[in-house]
Amino acid sequence: TATAGCDGESEADDERLSAPEAQLGLRFPDNFGWGAATSAYQIEGAAKDDGRGESVWDTFSHTPGRVRGGDTGDIAADHYHRYVEDLDLMKDLGLGTYRFSISWPRIQADGTGAPNQRGLDFYRRLVDGLNERGIAPMATLFHWDLPQSLQDIGGWESRDVAYRFADYAEAVFEALGASVPVWLTINEPKTVVQNGYLQGHHAPGLQDPAAAYLVAHHLQLAHGLAVRALRATGSDSRIGPALNLHPCYPANDDPGAAEATRLYDGYENRLYLDSIFKGAYPADVLDDLGPDDRMVRGIRDGDLKIISSPVDLLAVQYYTPIYVTGDGGMVRKWPTSEASWQQIYPDGMYDILTRVTRDYGDVPLTITENGLPTPDILAADGTVDDPGRIAFLRDHLAAVHRAIADGVPVESFHVWSLMDNFEWNEGYEQRWGLIYIDFPTQRRVPKRSANWYRRVIAANTL
Ligand code: NOJ
Repeated sequence: TATAGCDGESEADDERLSAPEAQLGLRFPDNFGWGAATSAYQIEGAAKDDGRGESVWDTFSHTPGRVRGGDTGDIAADHYHRYVEDLDLMKDLGLGTYRFSISWPRIQADGTGAPNQRGLDFYRRLVDGLNERGIAPMATLFHWDLPQSLQDIGGWESRDVAYRFADYAEAVFEALGASVPVWLTINEPKTVVQNGYLQGHHAPGLQDPAAAYLVAHHLQLAHGLAVRALRATGSDSRIGPALNLHPCYPANDDPGAAEATRLYDGYENRLYLDSIFKGAYPADVLDDLGPDDRMVRGIRDGDLKIISSPVDLLAVQYYTPIYVTGDGGMVRKWPTSEASWQQIYPDGMYDILTRVTRDYGDVPLTITENGLPTPDILAADGTVDDPGRIAFLRDHLAAVHRAIADGVPVESFHVWSLMDNFEWNEGYEQRWGLIYIDFPTQRRVPKRSANWYRRVIAANTL
């Protein structure tokens, strides 16, 4: 303003008010769930402990040239051995909900057969530790670590793998079902399709458009079968899919941009949403794939009925919008984070939440991921200053608040991530956590953003 800088005091005031911690006075609903998220391969380490088998991510990360710096998840944040310390850090943050994933190869080393008790025991200890601390466990059954033995028989290209997943899910439900109030089936099926089978920078590292959508169908089928497996146990826990949704916008007024955006939205969002919530794949996507596509040929009678088995909630993960040009290309409109694919656009959170409710009804929503990587450094005084993360979360939470005020049933929010971890092909270079991990010593240091989040949680107010 014109007066800012005229005297020292008002300048200091301005600085305080514009600090990322400045309160917006937005109060959240009384029972709102404040959480944080992780996944097994990204934090656990202990790659050979207690009978764990190998997953496609072990294979991929150990293949030279696949992951930045040659990093692997062998040790990661060593959470498998340090989970008690991590539980205490969660308690200290005041978390009400914690989302983690169960490693399939810890439960079935080869993806089949009797469950490995030592693997189940780890998650039993984790879940009990959460419940003892008053933190609600939210468990994802599959966060990309497919047993390598199942990849060897075709991976998600094989319909059989969807049925193996249902067996695995059943074993997990039997062991842990009653202690976990919310289950999520498959994390981001779209990322497996796009990064694993189209672009190839995620495991299994293929560039195989012919296989990609058959994989999508089998992931959706696996989701539906797991929902049915939970119901069959008679459990009253809730279950739903975890989808990364991307609001798609035309990049400009060019003729064709709106139409291209619509098809893009089909591949990014409706392929996964419509099959679960409407019991049909979107016609425009099926048309675009054509009758000879392996997916289109691979859909059997009854599959969509399984896929659309009623769910209790939808987990939404939002990171970035997509702007589509008339020729189906993508352009950037907003500043990106350290992740080159991420444009920072908080209104996209509002748009995707309100859209889901508008198009799919008032299924309860949980936001299971939102966050960004920042260039965090552990300072000599032992602090980690990440104002960019605070500003990002504040702006996205304000958008969530606005959506709730407009009637969208969002019940909880999980920061990605609780702690720095193995960011897939980016290795440990990108830091996404509220808690800094000094990987050489495995020391945990809550960042400035963790202290901010603790205050937001305590006040239930942004
Ligand atoms: C989505 C994935 O579920 C998670 O594993 C990943 O680390 C974050 N996005 C950030 O890229």
